[in-house]
Amino acid sequence: MTNREELAALTSAVRRTVAEKRSRYLSGKGTSPTSNKPPERLTSLPPAAAAPTNVLDAFVDDPSLSKSDRLVRLQNHIGDCQRCPLGASRIRLAFGVGNPDAKVVFIGEGPGYAEDRQGEPFVGPAGQLLDKILTATGLSRGPVNPPVNWVFIANMVKCHPMIDPSDNTKRSNDRPPTPEEMDVCSPFLFAQLRIIQPLFLVTLGNTAGRALLKTEEGISKFRGRWVDFRIDGLTARLLPTYHPAALLRNPSLKKDVWEDMKSLRAELDK
Ligand code: URA
Repeated sequence: MTNREELAALTSAVRRTVAEKRSRYLSGKGTSPTSNKPPERLTSLPPAAAAPTNVLDAFVDDPSLSKSDRLVRLQNHIGDCQRCPLGASRIRLAFGVGNPDAKVVFIGEGPGYAEDRQGEPFVGPAGQLLDKILTATGLSRGPVNPPVNWVFIANMVKCHPMIDPSDNTKRSNDRPPTPEEMDVCSPFLFAQLRIIQPLFLVTLGNTAGRALLKTEEGISKFRGRWVDFRIDGLTARLLPTYHPAALLRNPSLKKDVWEDMKSLRAELDK
């Protein structure tokens, strides 16, 4: 088989799986084996019916609901998402984790192997390094005592982008999300940002930095420089920095990330 034939066979296998999952889902005959059940504490509100994205406007900015209730509504709206082909192969959707009222949101590219299993962003080796970076900056992924600045962590896409989507048990099967996958998923990231209303965003790595800054440049050209970031319903300041996975491969980048985190700390302390 040529590469082109292999790719065509793979694409049609993924399409078949998506179609089967969709028809099972629509006919109500059982949920898919890869469905991402929200944790117990997130089931208190009725699920929002599947509907076009602009249905988000109905609750995303609703001041009569708490931020955490609006995030629950959003998670229920996303549901067992099959809006792009990543839904067919992912095990668990990683919605995002952290403080619904965070001042800072960290944004990576997409879940990897560990995140796909746990349904939470940045829990693998890169995530462990991110946690150390957060601690060193006086930030945290969860509430801690004594309290420090509790952040929110999300990704450009919520499902694991795989090189080989036919086998979701493989390791080292990660790739960056495509622009099309990010176009489908980013309205949900933007809805999270509109709900949380952070003052600061930190993009981790090339993919998130390029996508949110709408640039083709490499991360080394734009990291460490604050920019104003605007989407409907949110104005924030955005700081691009390197991805923790890049630091694992190339520890000499750590000093730049440390400079960036000092700059973030200084903004938070103003
Ligand atoms: N890399 C990312 O960009 N996001 C994750 O959640 C994990 C690894």
